[in-house]
Amino acid sequence: MEAFLMELVLCLLLFFTIRTWAIDTLTQGQSIKDGETLVSAGGSFELGFFSPGNSKSRYVGIWYKKVSTGTVVWVANRENLVSDASGVLSINEKGILSIMNGAKGIVWSSNTSRNSAEEPIAQLLDSGNFVVKDRNDSDSENFLWQSFDHPCDTFLPGMKIGINFVTGSERHASSWKNTEDPAPGIYTYRVDLQGYPQVVVKKGADILFRAGSWNGLYLTDGPLAVNPLYSSEFVMNENEVYYTYNVQNNSIYTRFLLNPSGLTQRTLWNERTNNWEVYATSQSDQCSIYAYCGSYATCSTNESPPCKCLEGFIHRSTSPRDINSVDWSYGCTRRTPLACHGGDSFLRKTGLKLPDTSKTWANISIDLKECEKLCLKNCSCTAYANLDIREGGHGCLLWFGDLIDIIEFSEGGQDLYIRLATSDLSNVPSLFSI
Ligand SMILES: *[C@@H]1O[C@H](CO)[C@@H](O)[C@H](O)[C@H]1NC(C)=O
Ligand SMILES: *[C@@H]1O[C@H](CO)[C@@H](O)[C@H](O)[C@H]1NC(C)=O
Ligand SMILES: *[C@@H]1O[C@H](CO)[C@@H](O)[C@H](O)[C@H]1NC(C)=O
Ligand SMILES: *[C@@H]1O[C@H](CO)[C@@H](O)[C@H](O)[C@H]1NC(C)=O
Ligand SMILES: *[C@@H]1O[C@H](CO)[C@@H](O)[C@H](O)[C@H]1NC(C)=O
Repeated sequence: MEAFLMELVLCLLLFFTIRTWAIDTLTQGQSIKDGETLVSAGGSFELGFFSPGNSKSRYVGIWYKKVSTGTVVWVANRENLVSDASGVLSINEKGILSIMNGAKGIVWSSNTSRNSAEEPIAQLLDSGNFVVKDRNDSDSENFLWQSFDHPCDTFLPGMKIGINFVTGSERHASSWKNTEDPAPGIYTYRVDLQGYPQVVVKKGADILFRAGSWNGLYLTDGPLAVNPLYSSEFVMNENEVYYTYNVQNNSIYTRFLLNPSGLTQRTLWNERTNNWEVYATSQSDQCSIYAYCGSYATCSTNESPPCKCLEGFIHRSTSPRDINSVDWSYGCTRRTPLACHGGDSFLRKTGLKLPDTSKTWANISIDLKECEKLCLKNCSCTAYANLDIREGGHGCLLWFGDLIDIIEFSEGGQDLYIRLATSDLSNVPSLFSI
């Protein structure tokens, strides 16, 4: 008798397990009540109602299922919570998802630009993307709506951060207000289109950290940016500009998180330790703080103080206290003003994180020699570099105005050609002049 009961229980357990694992879609007429979930076909992600931290508020979210169970990667109703367990998620005949509370009030709804689905369904994909699509149409181009278009604090493999000029939509990650409130906080991780596009973390309108611009292989952020586990891509054309990354092996779990304090973390799931291991983080040292050394200075984590004026430049503040320690925000200034027409040369500096590109001009078909000529022609041009470092380098990037936020790496990094009055260049060892 006991054995039979045991078998029955096991059977039921198995049945429900299989049932939960089999359901990754929501069709018209179906709904997900608080306590019910969808699980992606490969079992990587789960979608349902949850409460963050010690909060009692209910949100519809997506979290990991196979590893790091419960770690939330996306939230639907970030700004409008459901106060009790009465919430219901459903999809209508037009493919619009909505969350209703117990009083049948709509707490959140999705939006679609197209209304052309024969039979719209919502499906949780194994990438963690929750999509609305026509039942028989798996082409991602035809999705009516997708959660990947509305990132929260987590940038997952396959997501795009950037701007679509055709639809006018901008995708960026935004921090939670705090660990118990997923509403958008003040920090964003986005592509900044001023000058040559660069990836930045912003606090409101201000840049806090600059991952940098794309050099054909990686963001100028540094040597860590090239990683064998995933491949990054930066796409720039007339229709869109975006940054994305993909894992090389689907059994690898990696995520990029912008936490409530504005700190970014790239982590990798370690199966042995059952932990997210951080392998890259912003603001890990002073040099990561945007423009820490001010203008025309390099920052080097290996040195103390970390800031140093570029050759040909002198510290702007005259107080010696500033030079040795605290305030480098004034940065450096030219020892000798530029002569402009005919009297300037370039100093080649290697191993750098290139300066802020918000005041630059770029052209991929111009070579370095031509680039130098262009820079010399314009008196407000302060530096130039190759745009793309592949195949020995090609393309031209010209800087106008002050050079800020430069890091000097101990390995890796790029070349920058800095404009100086020729008389200053002769004082500099290992000079490079034309
Ligand atoms: C849906 O999006 C369109 C265009 O972006 C906008 O005009 C409309 O107000 C949105 N509808 C809802 C319900 O948010
Ligand atoms: C979807 O495909 C199935 C079989 O492949 C077919 O029976 C069904 O009619 C199709 N539905 C639509 C809306 O095209
Ligand atoms: C993917 O990673 C798993 C686990 O580390 C490994 O067993 C497998 O061989 C890898 N597959 C490929 C194609 O590299
Ligand atoms: C880039 O430079 C090439 C060669 O000088 C020129 O033909 C092209 O028009 C330039 N493109 C832009 C966008 O300025
Ligand atoms: C120099 O470049 C700046 C910035 O692109 C531009 O505004 C200015 O007109 C240029 N001057 C000349 C003489 O071409």
